Amino acid sequence: MSASLTDNTQKGTLAIRGGRVIDATGERVADVLIDESGRIVDVGPDLTGDRTLDATGCVVSPGFVDLHVHLRQPGREEAETIETGARGAALGGFTAVVAMPNTDPTMDCASVIRDVLALSRGVACDVFPSAAITVGRKGEALTPMAELVGLGVRMFTDDGDGVQDDRLMRRALEYTVGLAPFSGGAPITLAQHCEVKALAEGGFMHEGAWSSRLGIPGQPAEAEVIMVMRDIALARRTGARVHFQHVSCADSVALVRAAKAHGLPVTAEATPHHFCLTDAACASYDSVFKVHPPLRTDADVAAIRAGLADGTIDAIATDHAPHPQHLKELPFDEAPAGMLGLETALALALTELDLPLAKVLALLSWQPAAIANLDAVHGGAIVAGRPANLAIIDPDVTWVVRGDAMASKSRNTPFEGRTLRGKVRHTVLHGEPVVVDGEPTR
Ligand code: DOR
Repeated sequence: MSASLTDNTQKGTLAIRGGRVIDATGERVADVLIDESGRIVDVGPDLTGDRTLDATGCVVSPGFVDLHVHLRQPGREEAETIETGARGAALGGFTAVVAMPNTDPTMDCASVIRDVLALSRGVACDVFPSAAITVGRKGEALTPMAELVGLGVRMFTDDGDGVQDDRLMRRALEYTVGLAPFSGGAPITLAQHCEVKALAEGGFMHEGAWSSRLGIPGQPAEAEVIMVMRDIALARRTGARVHFQHVSCADSVALVRAAKAHGLPVTAEATPHHFCLTDAACASYDSVFKVHPPLRTDADVAAIRAGLADGTIDAIATDHAPHPQHLKELPFDEAPAGMLGLETALALALTELDLPLAKVLALLSWQPAAIANLDAVHGGAIVAGRPANLAIIDPDVTWVVRGDAMASKSRNTPFEGRTLRGKVRHTVLHGEPVVVDGEPTR
């Protein structure tokens, strides 16, 4: 047993002692007491339980919610499984993740969604499957959305690809508005990977000065921006909720800002790699820096950071995209795109973003929880009666990123060797410690 968990009973109540509690309602120094059913029963001074989790010097936050992870199961278990991905998520402070549907087979029908739900039982975080908008993510026919909503799906995306056909996207949006009877009234969100294929195809990095210099074919910012523009127009037309995934361009941020100012139901996420890295990283020709959408320019990074600061971008999402080493060692144009993200997101946000801690926690926890409609269980205020899904973080400790020390089955972090500030110390899932002193318990 780890030094921080004093446990004489293996069961019973759990007291998190000595921390500073921060949630959407504010900040206070308080202990948190959790009962055997996994609910918070008290928040205040000098609380004791059958078990104690030491939080001295730490911040107790609602657990983080990642709207965008690739867990690779079914079909690509050599890269990740739901079990290993969930363990990485817990180590990163996430108590809930939304799993992307670009698995093999695609998460586009009830049987695959049921499989993912079954494989997700008992893992180290709650896994909420998204489902594809179109069958096989081929962009041709809509999936049986009502049936999938009936199984609990609340977000649809063809992530990895955008829906190219304007009319099909319009139909999908119209259809989601009518799905409320199947979701018990919960809103359904269409999340878009904005990428116009006709402009992006054949490009392996951002099109600009660096792609010219390196001789790597690029894809222009417009491949993203044009689809953001179209989907804002369609959101206005249909009244449906659109969520923009991994926004990477300054012009996309400006469009989302304007759409929000007009009261349209749009939300957006940004990844740590898009607010930390630029296309200059590709000068190494190391495919660990290959990702979709690609790393952009300094001006784009500045715009993403401004969007995170002013509320245009609602959430930090990792786009955790594990790939096996032998594939990432292929030449830049042949290697698969994608980067690990779950275990470094908090530290990158604390190290690289000049934002108050509470703002970083909002971007990682309660704001994404609201987008995914998970806020009854994740991301809510730390008060009596709420489910105990919590991240206990040390915001000041520094550490060095090592891919081979991660829980992920893959190693493709672009931050290898970087010294970062801020680390998850403990994670509590439905009242049970799933990470204690930085070590997973399941
Ligand atoms: O870089 C990426 N990798 N972007 C995506 O949209 C998909 C992801 C993957 O599945 O590897």
